[in-house]
Amino acid sequence: MSGDRIIIFDTTLRDGEQSPGCSMNTREKMEVARALVDLGVDVIEAGFPIASPGDFEAVTQIARAYGDRSTICGLARSLDADVQRAKEALKDAEKRRIHVFLATSAIHREFKLKMDKEEIVERAVRSVEQAKEFCDDVEFSPEDAARTEPDFLCEVVERTINAGATTVNIPDTVGYATPSHYFRVISHLKQHVSNIDSAIISTHCHNDLGLAVANSLAAVEAGARQIECTINGLGERAGNAALEEVVMAIHTREDYYGCQTAINTDRLYPTSNLVSSITGMKVQRNKAIVGRNAFAHEAGIHQHGMLQERTTYEIMKPEDVGFVGENLVLGKHSGRHAFRDRVQQLGFELDDEALQRAFDDFITLADKKKEVYDADIVALVENRLGDTPDRWQMVSFHTSAGSSSIPTATLELQCEEQPVICDAATGDGPIDAVFRAMERIMELTARLEEFNVRSVSRGKDALGEVRVTINVNGRHYHGRGVSTDIIEAAALSYLQALNKVAEDRRTQIPHRAETHPANP
Ligand code: KIV
Ligand code: ZN
Repeated sequence: MSGDRIIIFDTTLRDGEQSPGCSMNTREKMEVARALVDLGVDVIEAGFPIASPGDFEAVTQIARAYGDRSTICGLARSLDADVQRAKEALKDAEKRRIHVFLATSAIHREFKLKMDKEEIVERAVRSVEQAKEFCDDVEFSPEDAARTEPDFLCEVVERTINAGATTVNIPDTVGYATPSHYFRVISHLKQHVSNIDSAIISTHCHNDLGLAVANSLAAVEAGARQIECTINGLGERAGNAALEEVVMAIHTREDYYGCQTAINTDRLYPTSNLVSSITGMKVQRNKAIVGRNAFAHEAGIHQHGMLQERTTYEIMKPEDVGFVGENLVLGKHSGRHAFRDRVQQLGFELDDEALQRAFDDFITLADKKKEVYDADIVALVENRLGDTPDRWQMVSFHTSAGSSSIPTATLELQCEEQPVICDAATGDGPIDAVFRAMERIMELTARLEEFNVRSVSRGKDALGEVRVTINVNGRHYHGRGVSTDIIEAAALSYLQALNKVAEDRRTQIPHRAETHPANP
C-alpha cells in the first residue's frame, strides 16, 4: 500500500448505539463486532463502560474476543471513575485504547460544566495522564471542538498531547460545521499546535446539516488521518458520518486524496445489512453505497451506455461493495457443494453446523419456489448467523381468518428441551392473533411499535421478510423473520424480539436508558 493510510475508527457500538431505538444487547454487539473485525476496521469503539453494567459487559467481552485483531476502545468522561471503569473493561484486549472527552466550547463551559478554561485544561490533562498509566494508546476529544475558540482549542490539544494523547479527535458534536469551515479548524491546529505531529488528528462529524461525510473528507484534505464513523451513518439525532461513504469516497477518489484504508470493501453491504437488521433501522433505498437502488440504472439512455461500457455511468462496481443483486443462481437440483460455493462468494463464512442448517432452509425454499436468487440466499444465511440459537423455538402454528370469522391462531412453542406448550388466541387479524398467543405462552407483553414487510427478491413466490420493533418497559427490541409465508415470517420476527426480552430478564444485566450519557 502506498500513500497515506487513513485509520477507520468505528463507533457504531457507542455513538451509533446511543441513538434512540438502536440499543443492542451484548449478544448483538458481539455479532456486530465480529462483522467489524471482518470488515477490517482499525479501531472499534465498543462502548462507554461506566454508562451501565450492560455497556461494561459488552466492552469486556468484545475486548476479550477481538482485542487481538482490532484495537478495542472504551469511552470515558474526564473523570477518575470513568477512566478506571474503562481500564477494567479493556484489560483483556491485546490492542486497547481509552478515549477520554471533555467539552471545550464556551457554551458548554458556561452552561453545562460551569468551569473556566483553566479548570478544563487541568481536568483534561489529568484524565489523559490517568489513562496513559494503563495503555499507550490514548485518545482525547475536546467535545464541541468545532464551536470552540480556535486559540483555546489549540491550547487544549497541545496540552493533552504533552500529557500523552496519541490521537486528538476534533468533534463536530452538533453537526454545525461546513466543509470549508472544518478544513480551516484542522488547518489551524496543524499550523499553531507545536507538537501536533506527535499525534494523529481525527475527525468525528455529526450529520445535522447532512454534511458529516463531506466534513470528514475536508478534514482528510487538511491532514486528519483518522475518521470516526458508523455503519449506515447511525448515531445521535441525524447520525454520524457513514463509514461506507467515507471509505468508498477515499477508495474511488484515490487519485484525488492519495490515501487508502484497510477496509475490505466487499464486506460493506453485508455489514450494513447486519446492522440494519439488528437495530431495526432501515436503510433508505437510494442511500449511497448500500441502498437497494444504489446500483440500479433506470433511464434508457443510462442502460444503453452501460451496455456499451460500464464506466460511462458507473463509478464503482456493485461487487466492490459486496452488493447482492437478484442474480438467479440456484434451483432445486443444486447440490450442497454449489450452495456452499455461492455462500462463500457472497462473503459469508459459516461453520459446518450453520452451513447445514442454511442448506436445509435452502432445500425447503427451493421446493416452494422455482427460482432462488442471491438475495434469498443472503436472507437465509443471515437468519442462521449468530452463535447460539434462541431459547424459544416455534414448533408449529395454525391460523384461520376471513371476512366473516374471528381471526384465530393456535401456536406451539418450545423452550429448549422442555415440553412443547400449546395455546390459542384471537386478534384483529391472523398476525395479531399469533402475536397474542405467543405472548400468552411466553408470559410477556409488548407494545408493537413498528411492523415492516418487504419482498426479498422478485415474483409472487418471493421470500417475505418481516421486521418488527417492540417496546417493553421503554426499551426497544428488534426482530426479523423470513419465509415465503408472510404470517410465518411475522411470527418468527416477533418470536426473535420476544426471545431478546426473555434473555434480558434471565441475565438481568441492566442496560443504559436510551438517552445520551450524562456529562461530567
Ligand atoms: O459527538 C461527540 O462529541 C462525541 C464525543 C464523545 C467524541 O461523541
Ligand atoms: Zn458523537
